[in-house]
Amino acid sequence: MKVLVTGGAGYIGSHTVLSLLDNNVQVVVFDNLVNSSIESLKRVEQLTGKTVEFVAGDIRDTAVLDRVFQQHKISSVIHFAALKAVGESSEIPLQYYQNNVYGAVNLLEVMAKYQVHDFIFSSSATVYGEDNDVPYVETMKLGSPSSPYGASKVMVERIMADYALADVKFRGVSLRYFNPVGAHESGEIGEDPTGIPNNLLPYLAQVAVGKREKLNIFGDDYPTKDGSCERDYLHVMDLAEGHVCALNWLHANAHFTGVEAFNLGTGCGTSVFAIVKAFEQATLKNIAFDVAPRRLGDLPAFWANASKANTELHWHAKRDLAQMMRDTWHWQSKNPDGYK
Ligand code: NAD
Ligand code: WQD
Repeated sequence: MKVLVTGGAGYIGSHTVLSLLDNNVQVVVFDNLVNSSIESLKRVEQLTGKTVEFVAGDIRDTAVLDRVFQQHKISSVIHFAALKAVGESSEIPLQYYQNNVYGAVNLLEVMAKYQVHDFIFSSSATVYGEDNDVPYVETMKLGSPSSPYGASKVMVERIMADYALADVKFRGVSLRYFNPVGAHESGEIGEDPTGIPNNLLPYLAQVAVGKREKLNIFGDDYPTKDGSCERDYLHVMDLAEGHVCALNWLHANAHFTGVEAFNLGTGCGTSVFAIVKAFEQATLKNIAFDVAPRRLGDLPAFWANASKANTELHWHAKRDLAQMMRDTWHWQSKNPDGYK
C-alpha cells in the first residue's frame, strides 16, 4: 500500500517524502510543480537511496487523479498541494479558492470513489484567526483569518468536518503548522521561494548570502518584549516527522473515524530581533537590517500549545533554534540560487 503525497515536490512535502521513505513508507508524489522543482525529489532519491514515484498533475484534474488511484494501491493521502502566499491571495483570491478549496474537494471526491478514507491535511496556525488568546489550543473556535489564503484553510477544515458527518468511514487529520523553517541537515533540500521571499527566514538567508541588501523588520512597536512580532518557529524536519507520527496514529487507531486537529509547533514564541541574533550567532554572519513599518495583517504574537500532538501523536519538536538557523544557512550557502 502506498501514501499519495500531493504537493510532495514542495518545501514541506519534499522533507516529508524523505522522512516517509526513511521510515519505509511507500509514496507516490503528485505535483503540478507550480511552485517547486523536480530537482527536490531527485535529491530526496540521492539522500535516501530510494526511488520516488512521481506523477505530474493538478489536484483539480479528476481524470489524472483517477488514473493515479487506478494504477496504485493508495491507502492514505497527505495533502500539501496548495498556493500559500498570504499577500498574493488577496490579489488573486479566486485562484486561491479554486486551487486550495476546489482542489481539496476534488481530491476528497476521487478518494471517496476509490474507497480511500485516510486524509492528512496541511492546515495552518492562521486558522485561529485574530481573536483567540495565545497559546493556541485545538479546542478553540476557528477564527476569521484576514487573508483568502487563511480562509481557504478554515474552509477545508470545515469541509472535512462536514464530510466526516456524511461519510462515517472518513478519517481526517488536520495538522496545524506554526512557522516551519530550516532545511534537511545535508543542505541538499530546502526552501526555494520564487522571486522576493515573503517569509522571514528565506529573506534573512538571502541577505546573508548577499542576494539582498538588508532585512526589513516589519514593526518594532508591537506589545511584545522587544517590540517585534513573536512566532513559533519549528524545524521543517520536525514537521516532516510529525506527518509520519500522524500516519502511525491513524494506523494505531484503527477504529477512529471523524476529524482530529493537532498543532505542530514548539510551544515557544521567538521575536524577529531574536531570530536575527540567533542567525548571526549560529552562522557568524552579520545581518544588515532596518526597522520598517508594520506589515498589514501581521498579528503581534502567537505560538502553539502542542500538548495534544506531544501526548497523542508522540511527537515532539526536537531541533532547537540554533539548528534551525544553521540548517537554513547550510542550505542557502550550498544552493545560493536554490534548485536552479
Ligand atoms: P510549497 O509551495 O513549497 O509546496 C506546495 C506544493 O504544492 C508545490 O510543490 C506546488 O507545486 C504544489 N501545488 C500547488 N498547487 C497544486 C495543484 N493544484 N496541483 C498539484 N500540485 C500543486 O509550500 P509548502 O511551504 O511546502 O507548504 C505545503 C503546505 O503546507 C501548503 O498546503 C501550505 O499552505 C501549508 N502550510 C505551509 C506553511 C509554511 O509556512 N510553509 C505553514 C502552514 C501551512
Ligand atoms: C514572520 C515574522 C513578520 C519577513 C506566514 C503565514 C502563515 C504561515 C507561515 C502558511 C512576522 C516578520 C517577515 C520580513 C519581517 N504560512 N518579517 N521581515 O507571517 O508568521 O506566517 O507564514 O500557512 O499562514 O501568514 O511568517 O515568515 O512571513 O513572518 O520582519 O522580510 O517575521 O512581520 O512577524 P508569518 P513570516
